[in-house]
Amino acid sequence: MSVTNLNSSTTPFITLGIESSCDETGIGLYSQQDGLIAHQLFSQVEVHREYGGVVPELASRDHIQRVLPLIKAVLEQGKVQLSDISAIAYTAGPGLAGALLVGSAVAKSLAWSLKIPALAVHHMEGHLLAPLLEAKQPEFPFVALLVSGGHTMLVEVEAIGQYKILGESVDDAVGEAFDKTAKILGLGYPGGPALAALAQQGTEGVFKFPRPMTDRPGLDFSFSGLKTFARNTFAKHPTQKADIAKAFEVAATQTLMIKCRRALEQTGRKTLVVAGGVSANMALRDELDAMGRKAGVEVFYPRQEFCTDNGAMIALAGHLRLIKGQVSTGNEITIQPRWSLEDLQIV
Ligand code: KG4
Ligand code: ZN
Repeated sequence: MSVTNLNSSTTPFITLGIESSCDETGIGLYSQQDGLIAHQLFSQVEVHREYGGVVPELASRDHIQRVLPLIKAVLEQGKVQLSDISAIAYTAGPGLAGALLVGSAVAKSLAWSLKIPALAVHHMEGHLLAPLLEAKQPEFPFVALLVSGGHTMLVEVEAIGQYKILGESVDDAVGEAFDKTAKILGLGYPGGPALAALAQQGTEGVFKFPRPMTDRPGLDFSFSGLKTFARNTFAKHPTQKADIAKAFEVAATQTLMIKCRRALEQTGRKTLVVAGGVSANMALRDELDAMGRKAGVEVFYPRQEFCTDNGAMIALAGHLRLIKGQVSTGNEITIQPRWSLEDLQIV
């Protein structure tokens, strides 16, 4: 049975988005006519807290429990029937294989039963497009800084699906460095927001951390050294946690800003899009906004709740791909745990 044809009676399109790549089950509903009409999120923070990080098997099991009730809740919130849905977008990768399989299995089964397309979405494309959920939207082309727990990337964006990676982390992602540094300081999980909160109580300049890889050309990043710097500083100054948190945050955010400025100069673009979990960080936003004002560059972010993982961005990415002609990936329950953003043609 073909599931690739859109049912013309269901236009304007409504796309259901399912995110389950890591430790958040996110569901979104995006209407061609009204934009984002509903979204729901269940964060597994409490499931993983006692382990100090995400336990993949527990993540998969929890997604299984949450995904159908959340879909039901989103349909009720959006006042939409299952039969009104035109397509189902799901995060196919990158991410934890077991967690991705839950979203893929639900999306494929539901799409098959409704005879509508199931669209595979790249998690980082979801992040990258999240600022398009806001009233004030960036226009293509632009440079994107993607900063999450798993990735740190500078991307030249021509259009949806046309991405060139200008630089990326050669070791830890910046979110990972926030999380690991938070753990060193005894802040628990999830570390990024806790470290940012502690940094607000610290004094800038007490400790000076390096700005890794800014003294040489290129747009790649390296953040694992900052975490080591934090560990060594903490060993010598165990009572100055807040100042260490501040020094780490300033170094990480200024490093990101320097590389963004370089990418904008190199490409000649005047629009910067910043997305992914770390784009919620206010110190980073202040740093990038100040750079943007000086360089005549407009900077766009998602709203706070759409910086971290969510289903709204997957629904939107699926919707944009649907109207550009992407067809279903078929009935097989497939995932792509490793998947480059550069391999994203619209098919
Ligand atoms: O995008 P995301 O929700 O998941 C991934 O795709 O990885 O990003 C999560 C990351 C975590 O490393 C978390 O610590 C970090 O984003 N994060 C922050 C803040 N909020 C979330 N890092 C620094 N400051 C924040 N306010
Ligand atoms: Zn993410």
